[in-house]
Amino acid sequence: MSENSYDENFVAWFRAVTPYINAFRGKTFVIAFGGKAIASEFIKTLAYDVNLLASLGIRLVLVHGARPQIEEELREKNLESKYHRGYRITDADTLDCVLDAVGSVYLEIEAMLSQGLPNTPMANSRIRVIGGNFITGQPIGVLDGIDMHYAGKVRKVDSEGINAQLGLGNIVLLNCEGPSPTGEIFNLQMEEVAEGVAVALKADKLVYLTDSAGVTDRAGELLDAVTADEASQLLRDADWLTSDMMRYLPCTVRASRSGVGRVHLIGYAQDGALLRELFTHDGVGTVITRESLENIREAKPDDIAALIALIEPMEQEGILVHRPRELLEREIERFSIMLHDGIIVGCAALYPHSEEEAELACLAVNPDHREWGYGEQLMERIFRRAKKSGIKRLFVLTTRTEHWFVERGFKLGTVDDLPAAKKEMYNYQRRSKVLFKTL
Ligand SMILES: CC(C)(COP(=O)(O)OP(=O)(O)OC[C@H]1O[C@@H](n2cnc3c(N)ncnc32)[C@H](O)[C@@H]1OP(=O)(O)O)[C@@H](O)C(=O)NCCC(=O)NCCS
Repeated sequence: MSENSYDENFVAWFRAVTPYINAFRGKTFVIAFGGKAIASEFIKTLAYDVNLLASLGIRLVLVHGARPQIEEELREKNLESKYHRGYRITDADTLDCVLDAVGSVYLEIEAMLSQGLPNTPMANSRIRVIGGNFITGQPIGVLDGIDMHYAGKVRKVDSEGINAQLGLGNIVLLNCEGPSPTGEIFNLQMEEVAEGVAVALKADKLVYLTDSAGVTDRAGELLDAVTADEASQLLRDADWLTSDMMRYLPCTVRASRSGVGRVHLIGYAQDGALLRELFTHDGVGTVITRESLENIREAKPDDIAALIALIEPMEQEGILVHRPRELLEREIERFSIMLHDGIIVGCAALYPHSEEEAELACLAVNPDHREWGYGEQLMERIFRRAKKSGIKRLFVLTTRTEHWFVERGFKLGTVDDLPAAKKEMYNYQRRSKVLFKTL
């Protein structure tokens, strides 16, 4: 790559992430990773990326597990590792191993986040990592006749305490131990701690780093977004999910149904996966949401700035007719907009010309989001709005998109077919094609 194109890519990339940086500042993210991720070679770069997120003003809670490290401890002490219904049967000897393993993993992560070597991304970073008794555990008890001893569940999350630390700019680091009011310590599931914390904090994001890149369909294709309902359907039907997925997916469903904005599943073994998932439109893993990610709604005055940012480049290219801000302010209710992940990526407007005839105007989709069917969905929206208000015939003027409309049932007409008022305003220099559709 030449130096020039590298520079251009860098600038374009930096600009492209700006909306995310703005959107994420002051937001709360819970990031959960198991012991396998910690033992992997990627833990170091993960620490770099966590540092970056903290520097951008994101309030971070990290939750770690230590399953392989606990297994190792058990092996060293010749103790058997026993599970029932996904929970470790934690007798007193096992609990000792859990405490040892979790304690040393915790310190390892703390050390990772305390680095500040000048030739690394951690240079000049001053992350303060805080742990504490923010989680209260309770025993699972006897499950199907099996005494689970010190295996526990989350009973309470001290969200006030965690929020106080986040407010001070500290990263809160939690593990899978939950002390109880009786003075005992329970061995919790890391994924349930993360879920409990995210729900209690009403986190904007909960991210699980897993051993696969995300949720896949039967054919092994990565699903980039699923709703909570689709995820629970997968849990019932999908026999191809990895054991990590079977553990994490139920937590993702509950968390997103309980109001956590977005829940992400990404692979820890892909360098930079966390950044790519959070700062690119397509992401690299699976996002679980309560509702579908895309949605269309009518535009509001607050949307004007984003609308201008969307259509201005196309106006400059001469693809769309220029609409000054004052005009948009007056006509904002004519617009429908398409949002992806909260960002406006498309628009279309309906301009009635008579009781039965209206113009479909300013149909535009951000170039990065084209060919995803958004254009068609926006058009359908305008059709519905038009039909609702009794419009029988729509027309559209376009210089470059004639075929797109023809393929969607529009018929080429002439300027003379336009309503009189529109005909008078027709710009003979633009020489737009005129297309009609009977609804
Ligand atoms: C026209 C436009 C809104 C389509 O948006 P989109 O979200 O990409 O549309 P969809 O995903 O629903 O449709 C994509 C399909 O249209 C095709 N397509 C895109 N532009 C086209 C064009 N100018 N002519 C013919 N077909 C076109 C794509 O190849 C794709 O075909 P496929 O489904 O066979 O793969 C978008 O290209 C755009 O913003 N263009 C600039 C603004 C414009 O010209 N607006 C119309 C005048 S108001």
